[in-house]
Amino acid sequence: MSLKAQILKSFVLSFLFVFLFFVFLFYAPFLLDFNPNSFRYAPKNDFFLFYISYFHSIPLPNSFSGALKENDLLSKTVHLFEGEIKGPESIAAFNGDVYTALADGRVIRVRDDAYTVVADVSESPCEGRWDEAKCGHPLGIRFDSKGYLYFIDAYHGLKRLDLVSKELTTVFNISTQANGRASKLFDDFVIDEAAGAKGGNVYYMTDVSDKWPLDHILYCAAEHNKNGRVLKYDEETKTTSVLVERLSFPNGIELNDAKDALIVAVANERRLIKIQIKGSEAGKVETFLDLLPGEPDNIRRSVDEKQTFWVAFAIARNSSHPTVLDIFSNKPMLRKVVLRFIHALGSTLQYFGSLTNFVPLIDFGHKVKTELLVDFLMLITRLHGLVIEVDSNGKIVRSLHSPDGHTFLSSEAREVIEGSRKVLYIGSFLNNYLGKLYLN
Ligand SMILES: *[C@@H]1O[C@H](CO)[C@@H](O)[C@H](O)[C@H]1NC(C)=O
Ligand SMILES: *[C@@H]1O[C@H](CO)[C@@H](O)[C@H](O)[C@H]1NC(C)=O
Repeated sequence: MSLKAQILKSFVLSFLFVFLFFVFLFYAPFLLDFNPNSFRYAPKNDFFLFYISYFHSIPLPNSFSGALKENDLLSKTVHLFEGEIKGPESIAAFNGDVYTALADGRVIRVRDDAYTVVADVSESPCEGRWDEAKCGHPLGIRFDSKGYLYFIDAYHGLKRLDLVSKELTTVFNISTQANGRASKLFDDFVIDEAAGAKGGNVYYMTDVSDKWPLDHILYCAAEHNKNGRVLKYDEETKTTSVLVERLSFPNGIELNDAKDALIVAVANERRLIKIQIKGSEAGKVETFLDLLPGEPDNIRRSVDEKQTFWVAFAIARNSSHPTVLDIFSNKPMLRKVVLRFIHALGSTLQYFGSLTNFVPLIDFGHKVKTELLVDFLMLITRLHGLVIEVDSNGKIVRSLHSPDGHTFLSSEAREVIEGSRKVLYIGSFLNNYLGKLYLN
């Protein structure tokens, strides 16, 4: 055989092999149940209307303009406790002190740029991220007017901590069913005090998924399914109801000042929705703000007299700078094959690790399944940080950017007053610091 023919033969054989492997990963019924949706991040050609209606479209803005005009204000954020803490996702303030809960379950109080551990709310010790479900992972936190600290444990549910007695109470267990279905991942909540049927507290919680727990959040973002919901729980009557369903990754949640509506960040849909909860329009759901330049995370009321809200983003972008996940948004087959592959590979490693009781292998297998792809994607992505301030009409009034990636992966921007100054604390589910930015 000539050299040319040999090269051609090996080329054809490798192509065939890759093709068959692809087909296998796509169709093998025993692999991960993962069925990604197709959508477009930029409607390409409005002329082809059938195309647009066929492909669901979640557009990114074309550019950063108007109130989204680029600046470097967020890059001036100071990184407190860098390297000493991990994952201060959400921030709450009470009596002039700032609190946050860390990924490892410690709750810290921040005063004069120093921190004190005030509680450890983990369920039981765990060895790494791979068995995080055991110890839990606090996300959204808030105080009620009495000074009780509440937090959502992504794996276990809503809890209340008495900071004085250190007593920890489960308010809402994640395995409680609502409409015949329990959640696997809770993200955030808000308290409406004395709004219950018997005068007790009502809690509104974002139920992200009945499929993926927090450590599989990559699968949640990549699948883009619509099994997220907003739940309502009346503590005294112990009744749970589903306010809204079929949401793709409901994330942060906040009450408006009139307490007659909720603003909810729907991360995968890159929009905020407004849910009317009281009055003649109760039950109505409308878009509050869409065309967001990234996936919105937590929403928190500012301290301004005028009603505004801060919304944080992990990675901001526009359609002229899409990420790889955006480019894959209308390639669900490819997403399915890649994620089924890393899941099968990671699970196999984890399995052999547990057979031999070799923890580093279990840990590595879990990383292959859940983290390495994210790390790789971050390496090739422009890491543009952003938080925005939105008014009560759903209009962006201010944006703080970090184009150099100094402060990105933000989960929450929480405004507080310290002395005569307004301060924005920036939380993050992944970062190893707490951001602090003076607004004046
Ligand atoms: C689009 O976003 C990138 C950052 O990802 C920014 O540098 C660029 O200026 C933005 N484009 C426009 C036209 O605003
Ligand atoms: C929630 O309920 C389940 C099932 O009843 C139980 O195993 C679990 O310990 C409960 N979790 C909490 C945090 O109370």
